Amino acid sequence: MTLHEKYKDYFAIGAAVNVRTIDTHKDVILREFNSLTCENEMKYGRVCPDGKIYDFAGADAIRDFAVSNGKMLRLHTFLWHNQTPGEIFEGADKETLLATLKAHIGKMAERYAKDIYTVDVANEVIDDKHGLFFRDTKWYAILGDDFLDYAFRYTREAMPNALLCYNDYNECDPDKSKKIFDLVKGLRDRGIPVDTLGLQAHWSLARPALDDIKRAFELYAKLGVTLQVTEMDVSLYPDRDAPAYVAPPADVLKKQAQFYKDTFAIFREYKDIMDSVTLWGVADDASWLSNFQVKRKNWPLLFDDDHQPKEAYYAIMDF
Ligand code: XIL
Repeated sequence: MTLHEKYKDYFAIGAAVNVRTIDTHKDVILREFNSLTCENEMKYGRVCPDGKIYDFAGADAIRDFAVSNGKMLRLHTFLWHNQTPGEIFEGADKETLLATLKAHIGKMAERYAKDIYTVDVANEVIDDKHGLFFRDTKWYAILGDDFLDYAFRYTREAMPNALLCYNDYNECDPDKSKKIFDLVKGLRDRGIPVDTLGLQAHWSLARPALDDIKRAFELYAKLGVTLQVTEMDVSLYPDRDAPAYVAPPADVLKKQAQFYKDTFAIFREYKDIMDSVTLWGVADDASWLSNFQVKRKNWPLLFDDDHQPKEAYYAIMDF
């Protein structure tokens, strides 16, 4: 039995893929996962690097791969402060930037809507610091407090059949989870169409604590939206200064397996509202964490450098 088969009655199991890994990691992707997210290829700055001319080659390649292999597809992402063409903000006032956003959403919807089950309408707009609510971005500076209202409304209009998602990280931090809760609750109370909350789950062996995860899930379950774990990985390093391993120590991989086991047990408790759990990559040889925030080889996923299942894989298959 493979991963997505094992979780058939719980939630879809996803992986972030890119134009390289749909070739190099094809066997594992096809066998183990039933939902895909483009790691970069559907981001604004990738489909439209200069803010004017669209190039859909990468996004199309992954959409074609997903559709021809019967995989579900998430669209990541519309409104974000990173990987977005700076040109769209130059000299823009609220009216022109809204027109640009609406046109972009329309263009993506026209091409991809029929193949997408969830779209990350907005990504990481909440600030991590105390005091500030919204992150200081050009989107927020130009559009103001109701910026997400427009993004979600435009997307509902253009993609009426997709689940509309707000996606963020540090989602189990007690302060941030309160802000995320307040944001989504506020939007829904105002009648803005938010259907699902995306929990990135970029985690490590040091954090978050299981109790914080449980508390955050309990809180989010009260929102009346579904939940999706959207970008999970489990770094072997406690922080950015920890020295790099040459090879992952056995006891550390064991801890990682236990952490995956414990967190998937929590996910399963929420199966009634959990649509999908997505890993941010396929195997350890191609994880973004080996380049972010420092260049340091990491082993955060369920499959090793040779694409073989790790202890973590067997840990979440054993229930
Ligand atoms: C990352 C990709 O994995 C990298 O390849 C890219 O260089 C930067 O972006 N949060 C997100 C994702 O929402 O889009 C990010 O993906 C990881 C953090």
